[in-house]
Amino acid sequence: MYQIKDLDWTDSYDTIVVGIGAADTIDEGLDALYNGRVKSLIQSADISTKTGELSIVPTFEGTVKRILFVGLGQRNENTTENVRNWFGKVAKEIKARAFTDVAIALETFESNGALFTEAYEMATYEHPTYKSAPKDSAPEVTITLLGNVDQTEVEKGAARGRGVNVARKLTMMPANILTAEALADYAVELAERHGFNHRIVEKEEMEGLGMGALLAVNQGSKLPPKLIVLEYNGAGEEAPIAVVGKGVTFDTGGYSIKPKDGIVGMKGDMGGAATVIGLFETLATTKPAVNVLGVIPATDNMISGDAFKPDDVITAMNGKTIEVLNTDAEGRLVLADAVTFAKTYDPQVIIDVATLTGGVLVALGTDVTGCLTNDDALYGALEEASRETNELVWQMPYFDVFINKVRKSEVADLNNSPGRFGHMIFGGAFVGEFVGDTPWLHLDIAGTSERPAANELGPKGPTGVMVRTLSTLLDGWNR
Ligand code: BES
Ligand code: ZN
Ligand code: ZN
Repeated sequence: MYQIKDLDWTDSYDTIVVGIGAADTIDEGLDALYNGRVKSLIQSADISTKTGELSIVPTFEGTVKRILFVGLGQRNENTTENVRNWFGKVAKEIKARAFTDVAIALETFESNGALFTEAYEMATYEHPTYKSAPKDSAPEVTITLLGNVDQTEVEKGAARGRGVNVARKLTMMPANILTAEALADYAVELAERHGFNHRIVEKEEMEGLGMGALLAVNQGSKLPPKLIVLEYNGAGEEAPIAVVGKGVTFDTGGYSIKPKDGIVGMKGDMGGAATVIGLFETLATTKPAVNVLGVIPATDNMISGDAFKPDDVITAMNGKTIEVLNTDAEGRLVLADAVTFAKTYDPQVIIDVATLTGGVLVALGTDVTGCLTNDDALYGALEEASRETNELVWQMPYFDVFINKVRKSEVADLNNSPGRFGHMIFGGAFVGEFVGDTPWLHLDIAGTSERPAANELGPKGPTGVMVRTLSTLLDGWNR
């Protein structure tokens, strides 16, 4: 779908995308397409040079039918973030107008092609639906990247976008269709397609391993839990970076049941798992020089005569006992055993990604992922990656006062719900009890995993957040 060519204004395309700044000297080849009238078209505002504004202007000459101009103002706002968003806008325009033969003059944006392909994949994505009337299939589009473009980088950008879309699609799927088993099947299919090692730990094996926390959450379900394990090998025998994603396919809250308004949307409580699977889709192309271990504890959180209850005391895989005060704080329970399991691989770092708490939504809203860490340098690397991807992160305090409250119980080593105030931090601190001394990042994506409205880079709903940031972090790994 993407091809690469040199820029030659006399080649024929239906549409060329061109960035144009207010103070630009107009290229002669470009000007020739308009019989030398580009300046006057700018003066008459038929071509806008206002930052981020699009103008589609037919040419007078035959080789190119039209140019889609993107205004670049004084060219002082060409940040990665802005350029990516403009490319997203362009992609949506191409799709809306059903253009099928489009070239983009990348040097007019002073940009490498990777940002364009990333934005194009993300912005043209639509959530699949189950409507009975099929949608007209979109026409095949040929995109030609014009200029001195690095093919590998372009493919990496597209792979990041595709990884995001895999995560979005999985998060959007309803829980009657995307069961733990279906999620495992998807992961296995993806692993086989890309030649990754994989393993599914079944319920009986979990019992043998003593995964009492994950099993407790699954206890009320008719459907068996799955622990999904994926391995990407890019660095021989080196210790892996473990990425653990919460895979609660539906969260009713259990006996601490959610109210009717709070329960709608809980099909998305496997957003962390989706991020991990999306990341693996990306790794197949970006191939960073690290080993990555993906671990996903997958189950729904249901009620029945068999379900676990508040006041139950359960024993996690590492032997720690947990007083269950709230069955709706189930994410930290499934993560507890998944983290302990990941530690059997001696990872150099553990990163968990989870739609863990409503608290992070209250604290940081829908654009910022809340983080905890026991390693400031590691957090610094995440922050640097996040600045490149514009997926914002913010570090919350991991103070002893929080840890002490997680450890407060008259009957067990830990409790799973020390209270409402500061509960985003309690959620992370609970997971930290299972991480131990391994350098660790906790990413609570309950606020960022879904978007309340569409933006330049995608529709309302699941975002696939952190796929690009983790991919970028792994690409630049040097510890
Ligand atoms: N899955 C929810 C968190 C969530 C809330 C995700 C809103 C997405 C949107 C999680 O399992 C949960 O219910 N957390 C509780 C924790 C509380 C019981 C300590 C919460 O946030 O209220
Ligand atoms: Zn819950
Ligand atoms: Zn949950």
